Amino acid sequence: MLTRRILPKLNLVKSSIFKRSIMSIILNPTGQAMPQVGFGLWKVPQETCAETVYNAIKSGYRLFDGAQDYGNEKEAGDGIRKAIADGLVKREELFITSKLWNAFHSKEHVLEMTKKSLADWGLDYFDLWLIHFPIAQKYVDPATRYPPNLLYDVDAGTMEFEDVPISETWAEMEKAVELGYAKNIGISNFAGALIIDLLRYAKIKPSVLQIEHHPYLTQPQIVALAKQRGIAITAYSSFGPQSFLELNHPGAQKVGLLLSSDMITSIASAHGKTPAQVLLRWATQRGLAVIPKSNSQTRLAENLNHLDFDLTEEELAQISGLDCGMRFNDPADWPGQIYIFA
Ligand SMILES: NC(=O)c1ccc[n+]([C@@H]2O[C@H](COP(=O)([O-])OP(=O)(O)OC[C@H]3O[C@@H](n4cnc5c(N)ncnc54)[C@H](OP(=O)(O)O)[C@@H]3O)[C@@H](O)[C@H]2O)c1
Repeated sequence: MLTRRILPKLNLVKSSIFKRSIMSIILNPTGQAMPQVGFGLWKVPQETCAETVYNAIKSGYRLFDGAQDYGNEKEAGDGIRKAIADGLVKREELFITSKLWNAFHSKEHVLEMTKKSLADWGLDYFDLWLIHFPIAQKYVDPATRYPPNLLYDVDAGTMEFEDVPISETWAEMEKAVELGYAKNIGISNFAGALIIDLLRYAKIKPSVLQIEHHPYLTQPQIVALAKQRGIAITAYSSFGPQSFLELNHPGAQKVGLLLSSDMITSIASAHGKTPAQVLLRWATQRGLAVIPKSNSQTRLAENLNHLDFDLTEEELAQISGLDCGMRFNDPADWPGQIYIFA
């Protein structure tokens, strides 16, 4: 049975660390401020990534959410370096997150691949380093294929797994903190039971849990668990199916789009805001961080600037009522995959 302890609080503050005054979440256990709104780098093309990151910094973004799997860490780093060289920001005014890929979970690979990611970004440290999925997959030598892809054999459509428990990977993540490679460490796509287990043995508790979270998938139990354990939540895919349409995800093609739903558009017009701003405010007003992605300069600015209004309690509840347990990003449920266990 889970013992109750006095738990660290999660504080939402206006922090001036990031030059501009930015709503931030104070992370446990470090006390570092994490901007509540950041920019997500998944599906930002390599060709435009440096410019997009530079322009996002110009617009006021201070948090960037990357991953080994996104294949654009070098280009994101180029954008950051240019912004620093041009005097737009200093490194310490930025909050950089990246994620360890599934193929690198074993103790032989975690630190080596942390250093590779840092070198790709051109950084000395990450503000936040996450385990991308609680799934250990067969190692792929980066010299052969990088990023490795979810599929081990892409032509055959097969996934292969490795016998590496999360405890082994987490111990290496903790070493990354001790060695100064990461200020905070965290997890992504972990279910509640796995989090409870991790908290039993973790010497350094996870600062952040990043999960799919939008009105079609509100996950109230895991949100409550994280809150109770002092773990900040970052919501990804805040616009629900929007991001998955271009991947021909069958679920995304079946459900209605949130951005054009009657409920969201009418709440948006009542506040003189856009549907995207309503969806983001629904999350941030409830204390979550968000990391919307956009390849458009206009939309990325629109997404950042959504904290200047409040939804009513009724509107928050109405939007939460759209929940239908619709998960789009489930590696175990992408059609056409064959699983092979080590
Ligand atoms: N940990 C994980 O496993 C995981 C999984 C998925 C995502 N993430 C992170 O979360 C970030 C965000 O999630 P996401 O990229 O899946 O989806 P998202 O931010 O919910 O949606 C992106 C989609 O919405 C469109 N869009 C953006 N702003 C808009 C606006 N204001 N109005 C209308 N459309 C708009 C984008 O098109 P345009 O680009 O054309 O504007 C794109 O098609 C990712 O980039 C990544 O950093 C993490």
